[in-house]
Amino acid sequence: MSFWSTIFGGQKKNASVVGIDIGSSSLKVVQLRRDNGSAVLETYGELALGPYAGAEIGQATNLPADIIGETLRDLLDEAQVTTTDAGVSIPLSRSLLTLVELPRRDNPEEQKTIISLEARKYIPVPVSEVQLDWFIVPEPISEGAAPPSKIKVLLVAVHNDELSLLQNAVQTANVSATFYELEIFSTIRSVIDEPVQPVMVLDIGASATKVYVVERGVVALSHNIREGGQDVTRTIASAHGLAVGKAELLKKQHGFTNADSGYDRKTIELVFSRIFTEARRVLIQYETTHQKAISSIVLTGGGGVTKDLAAYASTFFSIAVRVADPFGKTAAPAFMRPVLEEIGPEFAVAVGLALRKLEEGG
Ligand SMILES: Nc1ncnc2c1ncn2[C@@H]1O[C@H](COP(=O)(O)OP(=O)(O)OP(=O)(O)O)[C@@H](O)[C@H]1O
Ligand SMILES: [Mg+2]
Repeated sequence: MSFWSTIFGGQKKNASVVGIDIGSSSLKVVQLRRDNGSAVLETYGELALGPYAGAEIGQATNLPADIIGETLRDLLDEAQVTTTDAGVSIPLSRSLLTLVELPRRDNPEEQKTIISLEARKYIPVPVSEVQLDWFIVPEPISEGAAPPSKIKVLLVAVHNDELSLLQNAVQTANVSATFYELEIFSTIRSVIDEPVQPVMVLDIGASATKVYVVERGVVALSHNIREGGQDVTRTIASAHGLAVGKAELLKKQHGFTNADSGYDRKTIELVFSRIFTEARRVLIQYETTHQKAISSIVLTGGGGVTKDLAAYASTFFSIAVRVADPFGKTAAPAFMRPVLEEIGPEFAVAVGLALRKLEEGG
């Protein structure tokens, strides 16, 4: 069975679908329905995993499939999700993304053979241990010019162990996933509209911050920084002698704002400046190699919800920074907009998964 293809065909129009993002610190679900060409938001929800692993809310976990599955089932109940038709995310940390240049062929079959043979050279583990997929990167061809002799191919490999963990969790929760997708592809669908200019995405999760450069809708570069929201909380806790749970609450309430927050703004700045310094290295490396400027930065993930972080980030990078608004791609009652805009970054992956699932059904 291929994990990349749709397993169940013939989905009903107007049927509801659910996107399931299995993050290290929490599970997120978003249910959408297609209605006259728009994606209607039916429900969404989140459940922290920390408490199931003897840790605080907001801290990363490494739980077995059955616990994830049971927690997911609880969340689906709690959020009143009514469908079992799901798409599920694969974390960047458990996969390998490489952009390579390969010889171009006119014959699609020949091209496929070349890619699958060459791919082996770039995957550091036996091909039997991974699921392999690839995308040919669309290149602008100037009129009258001969087609280039090389093509760019994005190779994606996911270890079989990771896929069986996800599959087991999903099975325990009684949902049927028709595809598993790398989290960045879901994020691109829900938050990136820029058609040409390179954009940098910062997915600030619990244990890690993922940096991506997206160009023409395709991932040109990815990098994992091993620091995220949990480190911000831990730093606040240790600097001010607070319990981790208390520090997490204060952080969510105040973020970067200067108001009387119970902690020094410098504490949180310390962690974000370290993360951003590494992200800037990636940015400069990309700009130098490709001789192109990154046009803007998009903040996603729970860390992207941090109050006033966008202002700090735009000063730090001297580039336009915006906070992701994935729910902006969905139809929802006007009174919900403010809250959806606020929590949006956390749900970028789940919304993107649900949008793909809708496309498949339509
Ligand atoms: N309002 C907020 N202000 C600041 N930080 C927040 C806020 N809401 C959530 N966070 C932080 O975001 C982090 C969780 O982000 P997210 O849900 O994207 O992580 P995840 O998907 O579980 O992790 P990963 O992607 O690394 O596996 C937590 O560390 C949490 O403290
Ligand atoms: Mg995440």
